[in-house]
Amino acid sequence: MKKQIKNNVSWIGYIDWELQTFHGDDYSIFNGSSQNAYLVEEEKTVLIDTIWTPHRFDFVENLKKEIDLKKIDYIIANHGECDHSGALTALMAEIPDTPIYCTAQCVKSLEGQYGKHGWNFNVVKTGDTLEVGNGKKLIFIEMKMLHWPDSMATYMTGDNILFSNDAFGQHFAVEELYNDKADQCLLYKEAVKYFTNILNPFAPLITKKLDEIAALGLPFDIIAPSHGAIWRDRPMQIVEKYAQWANAYQEDQVTIAYDTMWEGTTKIAHRIAEEIHRQSPQTVVKVFNIARADKNEIMTEVFKSKAIAVGSPTVSNSILSSVAGWLEFLKQLKFKGKRAAAFGCYGWSGESVKILQERMRDAGFEVVDQSVRSLWNPEESDLANAAPLAAALLA
Ligand code: FEO
Repeated sequence: MKKQIKNNVSWIGYIDWELQTFHGDDYSIFNGSSQNAYLVEEEKTVLIDTIWTPHRFDFVENLKKEIDLKKIDYIIANHGECDHSGALTALMAEIPDTPIYCTAQCVKSLEGQYGKHGWNFNVVKTGDTLEVGNGKKLIFIEMKMLHWPDSMATYMTGDNILFSNDAFGQHFAVEELYNDKADQCLLYKEAVKYFTNILNPFAPLITKKLDEIAALGLPFDIIAPSHGAIWRDRPMQIVEKYAQWANAYQEDQVTIAYDTMWEGTTKIAHRIAEEIHRQSPQTVVKVFNIARADKNEIMTEVFKSKAIAVGSPTVSNSILSSVAGWLEFLKQLKFKGKRAAAFGCYGWSGESVKILQERMRDAGFEVVDQSVRSLWNPEESDLANAAPLAAALLA
């Protein structure tokens, strides 16, 4: 069922309460999500995006209950990823000649995923416009690499709505649709998690794009992303947050992440946490076992941190595979301006600390020399090295 969001503009998406993972199993979902598509019914009828492939037939049936599909004059494909384009094939089977407005990269993306069907593509660039009648028009804004090469946002004049696609979204189910109706703690928890795990690698581009959008001088009454809550209450609040988050964001927090075999490395992790708190009582300290905690949630805490400490025992001249995989993800997220330290137990060869330091340097962290290494179980003489490690991270 469509839900009016302003004048002749409606939401017509899917609230995905049951979703548990996204991007395969790479992104955890704990509070549902949504795929938001929008319907503009001015003199021209325009569909902005669709929803994910598994719900494509329901989407088309719902759309049919609201309008005669043949009344759709234009389809806007802001982004080719299947969570927004997944219903296109079912829809285009019914209205094959309907013009689709999208970027040149989006044509490649859609044809790459769904094959060449001779769809009526109209390639647009930043600043191109499309009249929708009643004195209103759509303005297209390329959002290249935010987060795919084909990404685009669409602005509607008159109603001053930015259909921002993935930008400013959250994997968060809000039946009432709007940010002011959502639990504010969860809304921001999910918005930060989404930024960290999906957008942070492209943070420098976000800063430039926000400047470019500001230079357009467009008023924003509503920012309508393609996932989660629609920002109608002080919509610029999320733009301001993005400006902060994209600029090597950090709070007064240190996150400690480790895995262990026989709890020796756990003991070191806890001692480092105690030392950081003892030396800097106002600093927030969080500790996670990498093998047991959710990786997206840990990364969100890393994003908020000014420093991290990562631990693994030495195993077969290397580190635990759980930590190795986690470090690969850490590198992908391209954090900036954060310090890091390493720790771990060993029984004989003892390479883990050196390997952890190399991997974190490679991931863009400023790695301090101080470490905690412990032959067999940590003795007090080993644990005492947590004090200079904490001091180096806090300096
Ligand atoms: Fe929500 Fe990049 O798709």
